Amino acid sequence: MTIESTGYQSGFGNEFASEAIAGTLPVGRNSPQTVAHGLYAEQLSGTAFTAPRHANRRSWLYRIRPAAMHGPFSSFALPRFHNDFGSGPVTPDQLRWSPLPLPQAPTDFVEGLFTMAGNGGPAEHAGVGIHLYVANRDMQDRFFYSADGELLIVPQLGRLHIETELGVLDVEPQEIAVIPRGVRFRVALPDVEKNGGQARGYVCENFGAFLRLPDLGPIGSNGLANPRDFLAPNAAFEDRDGSFELVAKFQGHLWRADIDHSPLDVVGWHGNYAPYKYDLRRFNAIGSISFDHPDPSIFLVLTSPSDTPGVGNMDFVIFPPRWLVAQDTFRPPWFHRNVASEFMGLIHGAYDAKAEGFAPGGASLHNCMTGHGPDAATFEKASNADLSKPDVIRDTMAFMFEARSVIRPTAQALDAAHRQWDYQACWAGLQRRFDPA
Ligand SMILES: [Fe+2]
Repeated sequence: MTIESTGYQSGFGNEFASEAIAGTLPVGRNSPQTVAHGLYAEQLSGTAFTAPRHANRRSWLYRIRPAAMHGPFSSFALPRFHNDFGSGPVTPDQLRWSPLPLPQAPTDFVEGLFTMAGNGGPAEHAGVGIHLYVANRDMQDRFFYSADGELLIVPQLGRLHIETELGVLDVEPQEIAVIPRGVRFRVALPDVEKNGGQARGYVCENFGAFLRLPDLGPIGSNGLANPRDFLAPNAAFEDRDGSFELVAKFQGHLWRADIDHSPLDVVGWHGNYAPYKYDLRRFNAIGSISFDHPDPSIFLVLTSPSDTPGVGNMDFVIFPPRWLVAQDTFRPPWFHRNVASEFMGLIHGAYDAKAEGFAPGGASLHNCMTGHGPDAATFEKASNADLSKPDVIRDTMAFMFEARSVIRPTAQALDAAHRQWDYQACWAGLQRRFDPA
């Protein structure tokens, strides 16, 4: 890593302002005739110019060189990282995977991306790509951006030091990072030695509308993910010339270009289009204090809305530590089928609907109207639990990428060595209990 964090600014989607050198930001205008310190002014727009004010995102960057300066792009392929979700039949089976095996060869964050599933695409501005990453080295002289969507990064093993054009995000497991569409960045792995040379996690590539906080309705003005807990970086830059590589993801394909300087050269910026991080342990979980438990929408952290009110292109949901106090209630998640499609991962600990088999770093996929729920062991235990006492779920963090459209597993995910072919057996032990008398 070459750029150290210079701290954060708090709030979700605020009008931030930060300068690494005092006097960088113009006052009272965005594009003066000349910018302080000989910098170039550049606007980065994440939404249509005419988007409604509450949904308009753009930032002004003041940088050593404009982003236009790099060599021509040529096609670049990382066969495991793509947006090929197929067009043929898709199995309605419940699917589960063990953690993706860690690489032996030197592998950076971008090289280590393994596409599991997805739907839609960047051309439609709708849908998601769902990827795992495994990495064992820093990106060094490689920089990456996706023009296809914002990247929701969920580390599971090892911290990430994410150097972006707008500053540095240091994230650890149980924190998330969101890199907006188009923002260039480089990832280093501070824990790579400690963790046996490995880092691992999940990435949701959101092709749709940018993620935002959900409305709270009757919950009121506080609760769930609170806006002040979202952190955008202060400006931090490097002024470095050399022989570097810029990798772009554009319309589902990768491209590379030579670049003779670091693109992380933004000395100051202001605006509301910025990367951010959030600590999932700050989520204020809300649940039933009488009977039944609410729908999992109560655990919604961020949502990417679709064109239909109340229907998310993608919802990011977590299952954090919490107390269970409901009476005369089956306390774990119930059996269910859902019009939405659910891709789950586990960051830490155990998930309360499965006694075994769902490991940290693993994943499951339950698509539209596919029945699922607690396994036989969990059902037995919860059906006989003593409800006179509260139960506490601690030391866990599971999450779900829930999508409006069916999440199509990739061929490499279906054929993967880490797929659990016996997943459906977890429900085989559920006995016929019916007794008409
Ligand atoms: Fe579910």
